[in-house]
Amino acid sequence: MQPPEPRASKRIRLLIVDDMPEMAQNVQKLLHFERDIQVIGTAANGREAIAKASSMNPDVVLMDINLRDMDGLKATEMITRQTACCVVMMSVQSEPEYLTRAMMVGARGYLIKPFTSDDLINTVRTAAAATAAADHRRPAAAPPPSPAANAPQALRKIIAIFSPKGGVGRSVIAANLAVALKRESNARVVLVDAHLQAGDQHVLLNINSPNSIDDLREAGSLDQQIIDGVVAIHEGSGLGVLRAPVALESAELFTSDAMKAILVELREHFDYLIIDTDTSFSEANLTVLEMADLILLVTTLEVTTINRVSQFFEVMERLGYARSKVKLVCNRVDSLFGIQPRHVETRLHQHFLSQIPDDPRLVVTSVNRGVPFIISHRSAPISRAIQVLAQRVASLATQPENAGKERKGWSQR
Ligand SMILES: Nc1ncnc2c1ncn2[C@@H]1O[C@H](COP(=O)(O)OP(=O)(O)OP(=O)(O)O)[C@@H](O)[C@H]1O
Ligand SMILES: [Mg+2]
Repeated sequence: MQPPEPRASKRIRLLIVDDMPEMAQNVQKLLHFERDIQVIGTAANGREAIAKASSMNPDVVLMDINLRDMDGLKATEMITRQTACCVVMMSVQSEPEYLTRAMMVGARGYLIKPFTSDDLINTVRTAAAATAAADHRRPAAAPPPSPAANAPQALRKIIAIFSPKGGVGRSVIAANLAVALKRESNARVVLVDAHLQAGDQHVLLNINSPNSIDDLREAGSLDQQIIDGVVAIHEGSGLGVLRAPVALESAELFTSDAMKAILVELREHFDYLIIDTDTSFSEANLTVLEMADLILLVTTLEVTTINRVSQFFEVMERLGYARSKVKLVCNRVDSLFGIQPRHVETRLHQHFLSQIPDDPRLVVTSVNRGVPFIISHRSAPISRAIQVLAQRVASLATQPENAGKERKGWSQR
């Protein structure tokens, strides 16, 4: 059955987004005789589409899935989040996974190219009718809350997860902590993968976006629109994710100034920047540590790691970092390892902010599935430990800056 043709006075206002002008023209031709559908504009890339969707207020956006500047799925997600428009995706891909992903980001219809004018007209009408019906059912709405509506305040805190030793669990902790913070506080949280040569946060969180921190470096001057276009949204939590560069050789282009410019701008747009790091003392890594309000220094109960962490405290002193901004986290805690956490605390003259149990089976399964254990196994001891860590981090973050020096958990910027 064909969807009813709306009355002429209720024309469906359509915006066509395709980076091939001839494709947009073809669609216009196919719709030429449809009195109830009016093409009000075209856009040749994702950014233009987002801008026009906001300013022209179309009923339906017909969006190609492959755009030059931005994934069409990402543009769709932003449009459905920021406007009342509904989106119909167009693609040459017929794989069901694309259809699922399109629906997950809020698309209301899907057209496989090449399509007939009947397919096009019916899909556009159906999508517009479904959206109008949904709007009708929705109670008179207050303006949508900003993403940080329930967040206590604009925090703008940078938290680096660091260790001078590799393979100790920085990435696993960073991913799960970021998800936990997002869930606990509903703040604006972005996970930044600054392990520039071998970042794997996109694997841990199953992020398929090709956009990376390198796009922000290349863009130079950043604004909300560019950041929104590059930061991927993790489906299971709403966490923002900025993956490491896709091209490994880009790592060396991250000077101190480049990294600083990115972090300064991101800090304006998020409450928490959770930054995964590498083990090196490269310019970029040192800039992250310097700018961090809090460094979660990860150790395990292995003597080689403990030695390196101890040396790092000396390096920190030489670099002039406030010791108060470093909090120790003990990962892979197991009572059978010979060294106990309290021995390490004595050696390093600091208590652990958190002790995270060793759970190879759960961690490896979670990494292999790309689903953080904090989501899949919320009540496992390792997830509880991460939740406690997130609460402690949030509580340090909201302590007043002017509290007494002894009690203050965060360095002054
Ligand atoms: N609490 C834990 N229990 C069991 N295994 C863990 C735990 N934390 C991390 N691992 C395992 O340790 C390994 C290293 O973890 P991860 O990649 O997070 O470390 P990293 O410090 O980021 O390493 P890299 O130096 O490669 O960046 C992984 O195989 C992971 O499965
Ligand atoms: Mg890592």
